[in-house]
Amino acid sequence: MVRENSLSPADLIWPLFIIEGEGAEQPVASLPGVSRWSVDGIVERAKEARDLGIPCVALFPNTQPEKRSDDGSEALNPDNLMCRATKAIKDALGDEIGVLTDVALDPYTSHGQDGLLSDKGYVENDRTLEVLTKQSLNQANAGADIIAPSDMMDGRVGAIRDTLEHADHHNVQIMAYSAKYASAFYGPFRDAVGSGGLLKGDKKTYQMDPANSDEAIREIAMDIAEGADSVMVKPGLAYLDIIYRAKSQFDVPVYAYQVSGEYALVKAGAAAGVGDHDALMMEKLVAFKRAGCSGILSYFAADAAKLLQG
Ligand code: PBG
Repeated sequence: MVRENSLSPADLIWPLFIIEGEGAEQPVASLPGVSRWSVDGIVERAKEARDLGIPCVALFPNTQPEKRSDDGSEALNPDNLMCRATKAIKDALGDEIGVLTDVALDPYTSHGQDGLLSDKGYVENDRTLEVLTKQSLNQANAGADIIAPSDMMDGRVGAIRDTLEHADHHNVQIMAYSAKYASAFYGPFRDAVGSGGLLKGDKKTYQMDPANSDEAIREIAMDIAEGADSVMVKPGLAYLDIIYRAKSQFDVPVYAYQVSGEYALVKAGAAAGVGDHDALMMEKLVAFKRAGCSGILSYFAADAAKLLQG
């Protein structure tokens, strides 16, 4: 009766990994319980999400090595994995499920960085923006409901908003990965999209220092001013203070990405006997609601929704 917060399937966004093929499922070794699916399987997962009351899926392609290049041009192919999966879900389910597409070049570059490199190997902000806007348009044309730039380039939200407006995509939302930290918790994700082995160095020239919080507020303020409909803090649990500050200071929905390493730690902890799997999972998820989140991107989405449905 006096409980202040609750979790419902409607709070969850389910990240899904796409591979080429037909009827293909490839378990991700570092993410127990998570698989990469071919487009037909992705449509099945989207139906499962709809049936569970999950309002949105987030798509990430595992691009074949031969389609990766220095400039990540496969991101602009209207027939790439991401666009085919988006179209297939929209054809099958229409407005019954939302599709959120990730904007960044790391699933398409041969070097695993989110942007274009200078001769010296530095990720170049403004050149990257030109590609990201084209990538966003490509995804919106395929039917994406929410464009989610995860690249952390400066000025990308405004550039993407302009591009979408000029192409009459007035109703496509932007969820900005605004406060995205250069985190050690992304390892299993890079494995899942196949960029981990390619990445040399780190992403510290564009992702944030885990020691900073005022900077997160500046990043969020910029993205809102540039036209973001909602903002995201990533990773989740180690950054609940940032979520709380963002929710207190701004009047847009705030989302958390409970990232791959956070998920894998719960799995490993439960397997090691640290605690009950479902109890660990639910306690972490409701913490995001308590901190002020409107929703959570989580690899637990389907499992948690099943538990909530009883
Ligand atoms: C990259 C991207 C990353 C994640 C989502 N988009 C990893 C990175 O920045 O290297 C991580 C998600 C996760 O760990 O679950 N654009």
